[in-house]
Amino acid sequence: MCGIVAYIGHREAYPIVLKGLKRLEYRGYDSAGVALISDKIDVFKKQGKVARLEESLLGTHLPSTIGIGHTRWATHGEPSDRNAHPHLSASGRISMIHNGIIENYASLKQELLNKGYQFNSDTDTEVLLNFIDDILSNNKCSLEEAVRIALKRVVGAYVIVMLDAENPDTLIAARKGSPLVIGIGENEHFLASDASPIIEYTKEVVYINDYELAIIKGNELVLKNLGNETITPFVHQLDMELAAIEKGGYEHFMLKEIHEQPTTIFDCLRGRLDMVNGEIIMAGVQEHIEALKNAKRIIVVACGTSWHAGLVAEYIIEELCRIPVEVEYASEFRYRNPIIEKGDVLFAISQSGETADTLVAIEKAKQQGAIIFGILNVVGSSIARISHAGAYTHAGPEIGVASTKAFTAQLVVLTMIALKIAKAKKTISDDRFLHLMQELNAVPDKVESILSNTENIQAIAQKHALASSFLYLGRGYNFPVALEGALKLKEISYIHAEGYPAAEMKHGPIALVDENLPVLFVATKDAYHEKVISNMQEINARKGKLIAVVTEGDQSIDSLTGDLIFVPEADELIAPIINVVPLQLLSYYIGTARGLDVDRPRNLAKSVTVE
Ligand code: G6P
Repeated sequence: MCGIVAYIGHREAYPIVLKGLKRLEYRGYDSAGVALISDKIDVFKKQGKVARLEESLLGTHLPSTIGIGHTRWATHGEPSDRNAHPHLSASGRISMIHNGIIENYASLKQELLNKGYQFNSDTDTEVLLNFIDDILSNNKCSLEEAVRIALKRVVGAYVIVMLDAENPDTLIAARKGSPLVIGIGENEHFLASDASPIIEYTKEVVYINDYELAIIKGNELVLKNLGNETITPFVHQLDMELAAIEKGGYEHFMLKEIHEQPTTIFDCLRGRLDMVNGEIIMAGVQEHIEALKNAKRIIVVACGTSWHAGLVAEYIIEELCRIPVEVEYASEFRYRNPIIEKGDVLFAISQSGETADTLVAIEKAKQQGAIIFGILNVVGSSIARISHAGAYTHAGPEIGVASTKAFTAQLVVLTMIALKIAKAKKTISDDRFLHLMQELNAVPDKVESILSNTENIQAIAQKHALASSFLYLGRGYNFPVALEGALKLKEISYIHAEGYPAAEMKHGPIALVDENLPVLFVATKDAYHEKVISNMQEINARKGKLIAVVTEGDQSIDSLTGDLIFVPEADELIAPIINVVPLQLLSYYIGTARGLDVDRPRNLAKSVTVE
């Protein structure tokens, strides 16, 4: 979703801002723009890719050492040059980039229209900008003061960064609900929505909190709250390498990230799975073990792929810990007047840690007294900062819009948490505990063995690349895997795909089955295996095109289909981490066979920072 970059220092700002915009492309966007200062503010913006903006500026001399840049994911107003950011105020004095939504923009706009303001775009951003412009001209105050006054009237979420033609050595930024990171270099500062545009210049960063203003004048960064009190910035060290956000020889980030999984899973287990002493070491879980052990209920809130990880966790936690689990779409939970009772623990699962719906849902649950436990990938993210405790997934930066390595890392973390709670609650035998630890320990090698032999998956992808619809079926632990497989295909190939519990398909989806419909079963050896084979027979009888993910050595499905994808044997509780990998590859190969931009699928955003 919208990406923000800004620079102030001694170098030319344009190349740094442009490169930053390219680094943020993965978030998903439809237009891009920059604003720089000459003797006035110059704004350049284009609908479409950053490359289009770059092309339009080839050969233009842009010596400004201060600049702001933006990739826009349309909310108010269609994707177009005029709706792209940055916007310029009616007076021409100030310019703004904005990520988020100003919910009361309509009433603010009406006030401004009554005063004779005219607008050049359909955006809420231009309204906020002119609202500040109006305060500036009426109150004869500084821009900083005008921003403070304006933000007290604003309802909604935002990160804004502003240029002021009358103070060309000053950048002003503010945040509420959307992320903003400031990189601190040698006499220069870099601002961005996440660390990826900053990492090649500095590892020292400050995360701006809600209701804080950053004023960078020359070399000096000052943080203030909306009450004009100065706040001491807390400088973090980024634990991220540049290589982690580059393709490293792979054609796409998605393929690179799928192939990174043996390493990311290993990293996730490292230091936690103590095979020598038969223990799982997770400080955040240990610290809250009494609350977790005694939880009356665990509520999982998440969106998208993270929600699927929550569903797997429901099966695992209920089985191992005997604690009821409810898995909620964050966007529904937050508006439902949810019932939170004493002893409820809320798990927030999020790769980015910035998903607006998840963030607001947990804020609400926190106000009602729930203990918030974050299962997150991005260190220092907004959700990390408002959680009481949690565990990081250590999957490294995920750039491909479709989540892959973050999902498997979430499953690994959730399994370890469940094991730890079960041990503390004594709802698991020592033997089963050790067996599952060994199974977890073996996952990186099993995933590696799938990744070292992908020809078969590529051939199946080629065969079905032109399908217009797919059904994904599974039971038990493999049901959420089927859901995730269908979501991956939808996201990457734009083929309609539905995931369903295998037995439930008789109550509807079976009507779709004919000789053109590929039906993929996640049918590895588990407690439901025989029943799943019966479900496959039902599809076969109706001439559906069967594809099956099966356990190596299993010949029971040979007579039903030749489109078999073999995966190493694993305990059914651990199997989702392994079984999802071929489904990620299948959607990747179908997407590329259809000639699509798999890293940046249309309309999708990596980090959904608006509700
Ligand atoms: C977007 C992404 C998905 C992701 C979902 C939740 O829709 O495209 O890949 O699963 O957001 O994101 P989160 O960062 O909270 O896991």
